[in-house]
Amino acid sequence: KIKACLFDLDGVIVDTAKYHFLAWKKLADELGISFSEENNELLKGVSRMQSLEIILNLGKKTLTDDEKLRFADKKNQVYLDQIYRMKADELLPGAKEFIEEIKQSGIKVALGSASKNAPLILQQLEIEDMFDAIVDGNEVTEAKPDPEVFLKGASALQVEPQNCVVFEDAIAGVEAAKNAGMVCIGIGDPATLSQADHVIPGFEGFRLSNLINLFEDDNE
Ligand code: G6P
Ligand code: MG
Repeated sequence: KIKACLFDLDGVIVDTAKYHFLAWKKLADELGISFSEENNELLKGVSRMQSLEIILNLGKKTLTDDEKLRFADKKNQVYLDQIYRMKADELLPGAKEFIEEIKQSGIKVALGSASKNAPLILQQLEIEDMFDAIVDGNEVTEAKPDPEVFLKGASALQVEPQNCVVFEDAIAGVEAAKNAGMVCIGIGDPATLSQADHVIPGFEGFRLSNLINLFEDDNE
């Protein structure tokens, strides 16, 4: 039985994934490291500092700890320039409607994001009050694929992990949900998110009845 739904933020509720990519791409260019959209899949759901490590590994570069902090901060400034300009119309189609529908039916909702910028993004999108619980990069110590972010969300909602459904667009995020013992619906490409229980292209036209149908199919 579904008692709670946990949502990743970037790439699930809002298309900030493109801004993250552009900002990392700019930094990688500066460092002389080639960085593709395919490489970028590895960064989704991953914390800021770990993302930088992945890029440095791709380019086989090393930096001092001070330099790393400086570059991560620089990336975040480029990213924030976009976020400050973001408006509520950048919510991904159907996401807000779906969340409002499931809330009406008594299902609890939480945010489970690795982003330290989550509070600002929710504010820009005018959805700070939509979630029953918010767990973001400011509260977690273990990055996805560690299940910490989703386990904290479930515990804040007082729902057992087996009664939770996670919506995720990142490989690391799908793994985190599965590591938490939760059902995971991938948002995006089924080939990339092969570990998810089901994959949907997005929330456009996706209703609570569709979610329930996915589970009924599983029981056949
Ligand atoms: C999300 C995104 C990642 C990003 C991470 C940290 O999980 O998918 O691409 O690196 O959050 O975001 P932050 O806003 O704290 O840099
Ligand atoms: Mg994401």
